[in-house]
Amino acid sequence: MKNAIFLAVLYFTATASFAESDTRWFSPDQVKRGAVLFKQNCASCHGQDAEATSEWKTTDADGKYPPPPLNGSGHAWHHSLELLKSTIKEGGKKLGGVMPPFEGKLSDSDIDQLVAYFQSKWPEDIYSKWAGRFEVSELPSIDDVIKANSDSSLTRHLRKRLGQYKLGEPTETAADDVWQVKFQNRFLYLIEDGKFAIIGDLINLENGQNLTDLARRDLTIDAISKYQEKDLIVFEPEDQVKATLNVFTDTSCPYCRKMHKEVPKLNAAGIKVRYFPYPRGGEKGPGYQTLKSVWCAKDRKQAMTDAKNEITDNLPSGDCEAAKLVDRGYITGGQIGITGTPSSFKEDGEKITGYVPYQKLIPMVLN
Ligand code: HEC
Repeated sequence: MKNAIFLAVLYFTATASFAESDTRWFSPDQVKRGAVLFKQNCASCHGQDAEATSEWKTTDADGKYPPPPLNGSGHAWHHSLELLKSTIKEGGKKLGGVMPPFEGKLSDSDIDQLVAYFQSKWPEDIYSKWAGRFEVSELPSIDDVIKANSDSSLTRHLRKRLGQYKLGEPTETAADDVWQVKFQNRFLYLIEDGKFAIIGDLINLENGQNLTDLARRDLTIDAISKYQEKDLIVFEPEDQVKATLNVFTDTSCPYCRKMHKEVPKLNAAGIKVRYFPYPRGGEKGPGYQTLKSVWCAKDRKQAMTDAKNEITDNLPSGDCEAAKLVDRGYITGGQIGITGTPSSFKEDGEKITGYVPYQKLIPMVLN
């Protein structure tokens, strides 16, 4: 897999609205461990609750500053995470201060936990001021997050950057160091340890497999299962049903018309065809009104066949209750990644894009 070439197709960019910073970079677990380390190493100078020293701005007789408070009342929030960490590592000597260095005594993750501990004491307004200034480059490593199995701190980070979207847990992909995260009804891919995200489809160019489509299958099955057959237009085999094909269709699309002519062949092979309305082009698309009329018709199957043959004189107006299903179909289609019609889905969620002649389509659906 290492040498495979991957391509991410961008069809959607920068939706992110920045969310309130009610989420912080650290986990409760880190805070808990940090509290213990703080008592052992820091409390003697910085106070039991990181509150020392109230007169931190005044130098003593030697011209040295006393240990400042780290609980948000001092000016620690003027420093980036990196600087806070390096101060703990290197101490204050370099700057003429007296704080001892902790390099070699405390590990990097100890130091993370210490900062987590005292930052947990920062009031929200101080923390968000600090985060607004510095936090952007401070994502934890995805590997670390996964390994530590910590309570989704990465997800909290993403949420902070991307707004209050529904986000899933990051999972590995076949591409090295590229992680997939469910993002609403899409997937985004994290690269460079989560510093960058790409929203789009991940395609293995060695074998042409669209890896995002594979991931989308479960979403598809879920979205489709929310429909009842009475919401759809169903062409059933007379005999035994061997397989079902869910087809997002538009009456105005030439290849949908072509496919519709072959529905009897599909039925004869035992394939049930369930039509979902998908007005490509949305409300302004050419098939939008016609699809609504079809869904409002008493005999929807006949109306579908008529519309696909461009016989529209007998179609009712499209302002009935069922016409809402056309809008719903459009939304569902968007959620499961449809970009054109016809788009068909097998029962296992596998997508078949575009028109496929029945001779080829039948074995694809039945296997
Ligand atoms: C011997 C006393 C002493 C100990 C122990 C000590 N510090 Fe400090 N710390 C100071 C002093 C004094 C300063 C102010 C700068 C200086 O003089 O070096 C400081 C500064 C800092 C700063 C910079 C704050 C700012 O507002 O700029 C941080 C962060 C910090 N200490 C964290 C820690 C942590 C975490 C520990 C425990 C691992 C620790 N310190 C242990 C005395 C101490």
